[in-house]
Amino acid sequence: MELAGKRIVLGITGGIAAYKAAELVRLLIKEGASVHVVMSEAATHFVTPVTFQALSGKLVFTDQWDPRVANNMAHIDLSREADALLVAPASADFLAKLAGGLADDLLTTLVLARDCPLLVAPAMNRQMWENPATRRNIAVLRSDGVSVIGPACGDQACGETGPGRMLEPEEIVDETIAHFQPQLLAGKRLLLTAGPTFEAIDPVRGITNLSSGKMGYAIARAAREAGAQVTLVSGPVSLPCPRGVTRISVTSALQMHAAVLGQVADNDVFVAVAAVADYRPAEPLDQKIKKAAQAAPPAIELVQNPDILGEIAALPAPPLCVGFAAESEKLAEYAESKRRSKKIPLIVGNLIHDGFGGDDNRLVLFDDEGQHALPVAPKIDLARHLVAHIAALLEKRQCTPASTG
Ligand code: C5P
Repeated sequence: MELAGKRIVLGITGGIAAYKAAELVRLLIKEGASVHVVMSEAATHFVTPVTFQALSGKLVFTDQWDPRVANNMAHIDLSREADALLVAPASADFLAKLAGGLADDLLTTLVLARDCPLLVAPAMNRQMWENPATRRNIAVLRSDGVSVIGPACGDQACGETGPGRMLEPEEIVDETIAHFQPQLLAGKRLLLTAGPTFEAIDPVRGITNLSSGKMGYAIARAAREAGAQVTLVSGPVSLPCPRGVTRISVTSALQMHAAVLGQVADNDVFVAVAAVADYRPAEPLDQKIKKAAQAAPPAIELVQNPDILGEIAALPAPPLCVGFAAESEKLAEYAESKRRSKKIPLIVGNLIHDGFGGDDNRLVLFDDEGQHALPVAPKIDLARHLVAHIAALLEKRQCTPASTG
């Protein structure tokens, strides 16, 4: 329930993507929001107000002169208590009106009379999106502080392919949730590793582990929500890349090592969440190992992988380094000893049976001040706590005069 207690006014304008707004209402309500729908006249040609009334459980407004509003002030009443105004789909015509400050129907009047954040999810044909007039309008809206979310690129209802598709309802909900997060890492750059690595033995076999990547991906999402520019170096996982995050996909520890070294410059924070294989086969084979009935099982010689986190922490001017310690026992002892040996300010400990593969986890943060326990919670909640802790450490570091050695 990430939008619990939030009152969202959802504006719907005329476009075929209006049918997806029905699902959007459902998802927003599922996250705990109360949703008040306002439709432009054009939108009612695509989906009827009855649909939204049934889904939202609230009256749907389409008309500035609605006789149900005693004071004729629907635009003021609706915007007064809204935590956010979200317009999805936002047509080219509607965006043009907004950019020009027009208020010729209920929705445009409501937008002009608001004192809450405005998010718009454009949806239109790709040529309309690329038209210089729309580009100009979008630039004006952005400079006015409007959050423009999307559009996506892909197949369009008109049969063409290109930019202009409205984001999917799930993505719009994620963007709305992100909008409510404090911008603790605004202007910062954060690099992180996540997932397992896969160390080839032969073309079809390898050494890997059960890391799902979920914790690392949740941290990437939380950091981006907090305003950071995030680069995620990911081992092989089947998770979608969080929106707005740059992902570099790798397979082996050596590839992860090379990608991190290539990216680390100018980052403020490095978070090593990946479960990097400690060892790799010394000589991966080009051909598949065949089973020979009489022969002894083959021996695989292993060599140690580079310690990516240790290397980054030892750079002359390292970013703020955060490590993870997944242990099966003696969490505090092992996590603290890792923190000391890698010389990093923060290590995040978790017991393997608490979190591996699941959606929830329990974490303990170890830093110079001691231990901070984060009780069992969804990984995204824990990730937001961790991001807040990292932001506080960054601030402390900036306030501490550099050591003269
Ligand atoms: O010492 P240990 O490998 O258990 O430390 C775990 C931490 O170090 C994790 O943050 C992990 O991502 C990082 N690590 C790494 N490179 C390795 C091994 C671990 O960055 N080769």
